Amino acid sequence: MRTEPRQIPSGSTTFGHGKQRRTVALLMLGVSFATVLTSTPALAQRVRSSINDGWKFHRGDPPGAAADLRYEVLPELKLRPDGADFDAGVMDDSDTAVRKGILRPYILPSGNAFIRDPARRHQRPPGNPGGDVPYVGSRFDDAGWTSVRLPHDWAIAGPFIKAGPYGGMGRLPSWGAGWYRRKLDIPVTDRGRSVFLDVDGAMSYATVWLNGKLVGGWPYGYNSWRLDLTPHVIPGGDNQLAIRLDNPMESSRWYPGGGIYRNVWLTVAEPVHVAQWGTKITTSDVSARQATVALELTVENLAAADTRVVADTEIFAIDAKDHQLGKAVARIAPATIALTANGTASITGTTQISNPRLWGPLPHQTPNRYVAVTTLKRDGRTVDRYETRFGVRSLTFDPARGVIVNGEHIMLNGVNQHHDLGALGAAWNDRAAQRQLDILADMGVNAIRMAHNPPAPELLDMTDRMGLLVMDEVFDVWERRKTPFDTHLIFKDWHEPDLRAMMRRDYNHPSVIMWSIGNEVGEQYGGRGAAVAREVVAIAHEEDSSRPVMGSMNISGPGSDFANAFDAIALNYQGAGVRTKLPTFAGFRAQHPDKVIFSSESAAAYSSRGEYQFPVPGGISNPVRPGVGGDDTTHQVSAYELFSADFGGSADRTWAAQDQNPTVAGEFVWTGFDYLGEPAPYYTSRSSYFGIVDLAGFPKDRFWLYKARWRPDVKFVHVLPHWSFPGREGQVTPVHAFSSADEAELFVNGVSQGRQKRAPFAYRFRWDYVRYAPGEIKVVTWKDGKPWAEEAVRTTGAPAHIAAVADRSTLNNDGKDLVWVNVALNDAKGGFVPTDHRTIRFIVDGPGEVIATDNGDPGDFTAFPSLTRKLFNGRATAIVRALPGKVGPIRIRVMTNELPEETVVVQAKETRDSKR
Ligand code: GAL
Repeated sequence: MRTEPRQIPSGSTTFGHGKQRRTVALLMLGVSFATVLTSTPALAQRVRSSINDGWKFHRGDPPGAAADLRYEVLPELKLRPDGADFDAGVMDDSDTAVRKGILRPYILPSGNAFIRDPARRHQRPPGNPGGDVPYVGSRFDDAGWTSVRLPHDWAIAGPFIKAGPYGGMGRLPSWGAGWYRRKLDIPVTDRGRSVFLDVDGAMSYATVWLNGKLVGGWPYGYNSWRLDLTPHVIPGGDNQLAIRLDNPMESSRWYPGGGIYRNVWLTVAEPVHVAQWGTKITTSDVSARQATVALELTVENLAAADTRVVADTEIFAIDAKDHQLGKAVARIAPATIALTANGTASITGTTQISNPRLWGPLPHQTPNRYVAVTTLKRDGRTVDRYETRFGVRSLTFDPARGVIVNGEHIMLNGVNQHHDLGALGAAWNDRAAQRQLDILADMGVNAIRMAHNPPAPELLDMTDRMGLLVMDEVFDVWERRKTPFDTHLIFKDWHEPDLRAMMRRDYNHPSVIMWSIGNEVGEQYGGRGAAVAREVVAIAHEEDSSRPVMGSMNISGPGSDFANAFDAIALNYQGAGVRTKLPTFAGFRAQHPDKVIFSSESAAAYSSRGEYQFPVPGGISNPVRPGVGGDDTTHQVSAYELFSADFGGSADRTWAAQDQNPTVAGEFVWTGFDYLGEPAPYYTSRSSYFGIVDLAGFPKDRFWLYKARWRPDVKFVHVLPHWSFPGREGQVTPVHAFSSADEAELFVNGVSQGRQKRAPFAYRFRWDYVRYAPGEIKVVTWKDGKPWAEEAVRTTGAPAHIAAVADRSTLNNDGKDLVWVNVALNDAKGGFVPTDHRTIRFIVDGPGEVIATDNGDPGDFTAFPSLTRKLFNGRATAIVRALPGKVGPIRIRVMTNELPEETVVVQAKETRDSKR
């Protein structure tokens, strides 16, 4: 085990500061427990270590073993004997023979801590399934397996499956079995301590063996889970951990990824310790002068004897890097907790913070945070220390006004985000996720919906730090399936553990303002749907009475039993009107006068960045059809941003409906970024067309449409299309402009095409009858009669230079930090050439490497790790990391056959503050 005290995670709770870090170092030096104990009483506290390094990985099961290893009703996959590939034939239910597995009763007890009724908890049957499978034992030689570092996504490298019905899941080979093996170095000094495996997410149906003994597992790929390894640990021995994943085909409507794709930790604690996610902090009576902080603390005693501990909690302000600021601002009075052998107990305590630094969204508020440091003492000796980061804020869901945070009404300017990180796939990466959020925040996003599953815990740390509001969501499916092998298979057994696990993990994040228990679940259609909804809502209410609970509805109408089950009305598309139906905001408002109403999904607009198709229809919103925004030969959608799914609408249409219904609390656009899979309307592609930002992170024109509305103070006008259309001379080529200005005038080669005032419920300026002539188009804008902003777009000539820009000049050498090198071509005058599709090559000199490339083209089947990439409408990007531990200049050389090479230099530097 490599202990990484400097890489303390940024989960809602963190461990390991000061004394404790010294302890870790001492243990690594092999100092004996007894020696240290006398001089450092803190030794016995918990140590949480990253175990992301040092794994061996193999795709597929050993011959003949698969049947015994299956959870239960999972499809038998058409894996080739070598397990490396599969038969990419047409899939349907008959192709995927369902075989009964035997693991289910052995895995179910892993969820027991999240099942409220003791009578419904599970007893493990006798036996040790899989114990004789060679991969679980320590004697198996895994030298031939691939060495991997977690987080790891086994499918993202491809190759893409070009033919067949695989578009929904991103045409990447995510399904099948995969094994991970690693030794755990558990010193003899840990005898008597509790040892936990903490997995933030593994896709999916994880089963864990330690030293050949089946420990347990967790089927749902998006949740975080813990297993108690203690009974199977051999302190000082050769501890062999083996994890098998079994990712079903046809299990998702989008790309799920495959593998242990989030962080993994080993937590070693005294047998009496703060339980998993054992703190719940709630703030109330919040004002500028004072706030009440209530803590519910759950302590677990895994020892065979009763015990008593004293819990003491101090509260400190923290900065953006989670460092404590000054002295404690409050303390919860110490309290004694009596625990039975193998029992848990909870206590509550409250305190006051004077002049609290409140947590609230930008731009008018600041996302200040605190940390509660809880210590447990037994006989005066500290046995555990546990940190809980939280924020002090008041939150009101006001039916008439919407979401109120600390008294300020906040319109939800939100986006939906799936979990993938584009070319990096599902594998969690701090920098990649932060980049997505930064790009979205620049657009004015103040809210994120976690579509449609629990996110990586670090993502919620980021939303906490940035002051973003989060709709945290647990399921896309309940009992009724959307795809043949999705989570309807496990809903009955696992909905309670999965829901409670997500809510307990995420409870203390101030950014989480509401819980979604399901997205467009099939239960909306009637039958026992409302009864299931009420049951799931009741579980959520047991976990949290401070936030509203809801499910997103695209079918259930106003006043339906299903809608009545929820605390707020979360509408997908219905509000603005689905297909030809009229907006239903008013209908929901009339039927639900006491509930906040908002769009949990809005728009579902399609576009391909930089792609302009003609003729451009006149309406404000059009379902994509061949020749109407869509091109059936290129499989691209026009970027005039007037086109959408049949059930959705353009931003313009959506906003008109919202603005005519002012009690609507806002929206979450479908989606912020393009994502892997669900490539409607062209399922022959690999990734979506819905994003405001493309898969590579390049903004589409829509970005400025949203920015104009969400950041109306920013002075800009964005003009489209580009103005380089050789051959279109004299043809109608509409010009549209996005700005928060209220007046605009277009000039084509200096000639005015008319000055326009923005009409009520109109969100763009448009000159639809402009005839193309090479040269310059320029839009000049005014707001309240005063000049606001102007932008010119010029016709460009042949490419003359490569323009390559790194998004940062330095890179930490922790092997995780990343830089994006964005490439475009300029003409001789330095103007961007918007139509080029030539191939770019990347070569790196120095201590770095390109780990993936992309261009945002939903139909590009070049594997992501490729060092060559075609430009898509003039742009491509390379994702670069420093080689772990190396420093110095990384030279990224960017080449094409025809143009002079360009080099970008990024400095790899020693990782300093890696606390985050
Ligand atoms: C919604 C669904 C999303 C996504 C979207 C676009 O109905 O909730 O997950 O599928 O449509 O197609």
